[in-house]
Amino acid sequence: MQSTVIAPSILSANFAKLGEEVDNVLKAGADWVHFDVMDNHYVPNLTIGPMVCEALRKHGVTAPIDVHLMVEPVDRIVPDFAKAGATMISFHPEASAHVHRTIQLIRSHGCQAGLVLNPATPVDVLDWVIDDLDMVLLMSVNPGFGGQSFIPSALEKLRRVRRMIDATGKPIRLEIDGGVKADNIAEIAAAGADTFVAGSAIFNASDYADVIARMKDAVAQ
Ligand code: DX5
Ligand code: ZN
Repeated sequence: MQSTVIAPSILSANFAKLGEEVDNVLKAGADWVHFDVMDNHYVPNLTIGPMVCEALRKHGVTAPIDVHLMVEPVDRIVPDFAKAGATMISFHPEASAHVHRTIQLIRSHGCQAGLVLNPATPVDVLDWVIDDLDMVLLMSVNPGFGGQSFIPSALEKLRRVRRMIDATGKPIRLEIDGGVKADNIAEIAAAGADTFVAGSAIFNASDYADVIARMKDAVAQ
């Protein structure tokens, strides 16, 4: 099992002072920055692109930037995000014509590759590519918006994907995204996640350090 990572989703941050928000959440104990990219096509919302990623790097952010692409098509934007300083790039199989090719493309640009499964996406999409992945990201809400409720069937899916990852013997991360809170993170961790995205639970709180500490404590129990 990998070390615990808390990755605040900046989707719920105050975009008018994004640099400061990212600095504050990292100072508060966050491990990664989760960067949600939406195109108003693959998902019904529009957010931020490579220029914002690059701006965060120029601002001095050195923590891993975990880019979650909710865009279609995917391949075109991969080199731009690599150049902009992305550490890992994850994409949805439904948004790529050639999933294996996209994974290789991400890796050829020096980034770690993740595949994202929507709540209704079967786990067997992983069968022939899991060995090439650095991370599997399970969505526990339908992608597009922050602040939705955790879909309970994601727990059984986590258990299944955890078994698949363990069978590879490789250090592949299992990330969960959507509706993660301090009061449900323990059961999510018990189901097999090691990497936790949380947007509204962190950025809507007045004390980021307190929520992140409570999340880490709950996972460590
Ligand atoms: C949804 C995004 C998530 C979202 C999580 O499409 O991928 O990262 O911002 O937000 P919360 O934690 O509020 O569910
Ligand atoms: Zn996300």
